[in-house]
Amino acid sequence: MRGKDLLSIANLSGKDIGLLISDTADMKASGWLSSLNGKTLALLFEKPSLRTRVSFEVAMRQLGGQVIYLSPAEVGLNKRESVSDVARVLSRYVDAIAARTFSHQTLEVLASCANVPVINALSDLEHPCQALADLFTIYENKGGLKDLTLAFVGDGNNVAHSLLLGASLTGMNLRIACPEGYQVQEQILRLAERYARDSGSEIFCTLEPPLAISGADIVYTDVWTSMGQESEARKRRQIFAGYQINNQLLSLAREDAIFMHPLPAHHGQEVTDDTLDSPASVVFDQAENRLHLTKALLSEILGGLEMPLANYH
Ligand code: CP
Ligand code: NVA
Repeated sequence: MRGKDLLSIANLSGKDIGLLISDTADMKASGWLSSLNGKTLALLFEKPSLRTRVSFEVAMRQLGGQVIYLSPAEVGLNKRESVSDVARVLSRYVDAIAARTFSHQTLEVLASCANVPVINALSDLEHPCQALADLFTIYENKGGLKDLTLAFVGDGNNVAHSLLLGASLTGMNLRIACPEGYQVQEQILRLAERYARDSGSEIFCTLEPPLAISGADIVYTDVWTSMGQESEARKRRQIFAGYQINNQLLSLAREDAIFMHPLPAHHGQEVTDDTLDSPASVVFDQAENRLHLTKALLSEILGGLEMPLANYH
């Protein structure tokens, strides 16, 4: 992974994901003797963020590195300056760029013009750092990934895409229930089906939430209106009304099922408060695990990983 971009989960193999999960477990248990001393990460964001920004900043600082946050207003990607020039300039100053963009193509241009690694901190197509932290959260709750069944209910969006690719690379089954017209993109589904043939995952798409959730080990949802789609919020609330996760729907899953959401949540829309606050909910563990995963990821990409602190004498 050293020096590589992470624009999509498809940039990783099942083995890379396994390594990141194991690094994250070590990072969470005991910390690592991983020094990013002298390294600087630029956070280039076109959209707001709480978890992603804070977890990247804290991760770099805990590992001894520096961060520069560049807000949407500051850089003006494609407005004040072209994406390719921003990439070439930042490459002269920093060791890596984590970018949150509207269009996934912006990230691709950034990565092709930068000569430092570019990490996708969320685009309209994917949210790989979230999916990796989620896979770790599932692993820590269930003791593995293979042969588990994750039911994703809601919008076939960036989060659904990265989960679909991550599950199909690691042998986890994915059932996706989305309304007509809001399903996952065909190209991502085809890629996931290809991975699934090797890993043994089963992928099932439906319009009916109960069909996805029945007997599932993990029930996952995300907002109905993602950042950048605010003008569609009213229409989406109507279209997605039957896709709300509540305790009644959750009761169709296995008794020991966990509930997941990347946050921020729109309480009372895609999920009710009783589900969000139920013992099944691991949403704040997911948020915490963003930090541990980011430390593992940055250490792998920037090459600071040495050994688990527990083994250091
Ligand atoms: N889950 C997530 O990416 O949160 P933020 O948008 O707050 O970074
Ligand atoms: N699908 C959401 C995820 C936020 C973390 C969005 O893109 O806004």
